[in-house]
Amino acid sequence: MKTESWLQCIIPSCGKKYPITERRTACDCGELLDVRYNGTFPKSLQKTFSERLSHGQNIFNESGVWRYRELLNFAGVDTENPSDCSKKLVSLDGAEGRTKPFHLTRVADYVGLKTANFWLQFEGDNPTGSFKDNGMASAFTHARMVGAKKVVCASTGNTSSSAAAFAANELDMQAVILVGEGKIAKGKLAQSLAYGAKVLQVRGDFDVAMAMVQALSKESSIYVVNSLNCFRLEGQKTMMFRILDYLRWHVPDWIVFPGGNLGNTSAFGKAFMELYEYGWIKKKPRMAVVVAEGAPTLSDLYNEHELRWNNGNIDNTIIDDYYSEVDRKGIKAKTRASAIEILKPVNLKKAIRTLEFTDGVVTTVSDEAIMDSMAMVSKNGFGCEPASAATVAGTKKLVEQGIIGADDSVVGIATGHILKDVTAIVDYHFNPKNRFANTPITVEPDVKEILKLADS
Ligand code: F0G
Repeated sequence: MKTESWLQCIIPSCGKKYPITERRTACDCGELLDVRYNGTFPKSLQKTFSERLSHGQNIFNESGVWRYRELLNFAGVDTENPSDCSKKLVSLDGAEGRTKPFHLTRVADYVGLKTANFWLQFEGDNPTGSFKDNGMASAFTHARMVGAKKVVCASTGNTSSSAAAFAANELDMQAVILVGEGKIAKGKLAQSLAYGAKVLQVRGDFDVAMAMVQALSKESSIYVVNSLNCFRLEGQKTMMFRILDYLRWHVPDWIVFPGGNLGNTSAFGKAFMELYEYGWIKKKPRMAVVVAEGAPTLSDLYNEHELRWNNGNIDNTIIDDYYSEVDRKGIKAKTRASAIEILKPVNLKKAIRTLEFTDGVVTTVSDEAIMDSMAMVSKNGFGCEPASAATVAGTKKLVEQGIIGADDSVVGIATGHILKDVTAIVDYHFNPKNRFANTPITVEPDVKEILKLADS
């Protein structure tokens, strides 16, 4: 089965196309690009995907990204031949994307949904502890296609960890990472250093570092692995394929997840647009994007300024005016969920497109609600980092508001691992004022005293 692929401007009135082998993160007109496909995508592939699950020894079947390779076949692989695959597809030995949705009774109760209708998919179970590994597998595949030797990204810590690991696992590849000085959680900084990336701490926050990468992408041939690179988003589509595969291709009513640079919002929407076009699904799940109160751009623009995709005829003045105001007032993003501390998301327009296609909603949550939700996920024996807990906090808020119905089916994405930001967890539990604090008790080395406390 031959699939043709190319790059194309997302704005229909432009629609300019470029060869798939180009290294570019924007159309000549300045807008974002999509990877587009022409081929046959029969529903029988669903059976192939599930059969691959039980065939070990082929890392491209074990990989939760490449198991779905026909739906992101920009590298043009001979789909059943592992050695052909390994020449073209980049994988952490099949380890990326091995996730699936789980039921969590306590969390379901907390958010006000029935256990049977509520799942969380823990993307923190990826090899570097976040969902980014899904997208890095596909971005590095394209980097290899175009012969790149150096990759660069700006990051709040997870993109950088993932990029550093994938670069370390490739032959002859160096990662250069820009992070806001003091802005990323220690676990993530530790990973980026340990995997051997060149780490540049920029004086500024993520938005400043991202602006640097955008400028760099115009001036050098360094390969950008931020989600501005549309090949990243191809791998991130597979998070949705895994949900559907697990639910036997029944579409849930809602998908809930945190929004930062809005790569997931874009990728998830594209996954469903394509499946809809291929006739695999009749119903569209509604997307609920949850942003932090201290990083509210998408909510402000979508809910208050009513920014709409409108078939690609976006009113750019709404965006320009908003950012002028942000710059004039010197406003910076601020949230304890450092992964989503972003005020100028690069995928804004694709996210708006997703919201239109899926009749989506955007909501904001406070840091307090995020931290309580994070604690609640752990009270269920699972775990995630603060940004991921925005999913739970957002679901709870939307259920309370009656936007998500009490009988609706909801799959939430928990984007990063519990150990990414241990400082946040320890700080939370050491403060007994927090709702679910489990504050440790200091005790003298006295058996009787310890027994008394253990029994109390
Ligand atoms: N959750 C976590 C744990 C993240 O690391 C990120 C983004 C998001 C949610 C938001 O996802 O950007 O697709 O909307 N982290 C990026 C990084 C920005 O650099 O690691 P998004």
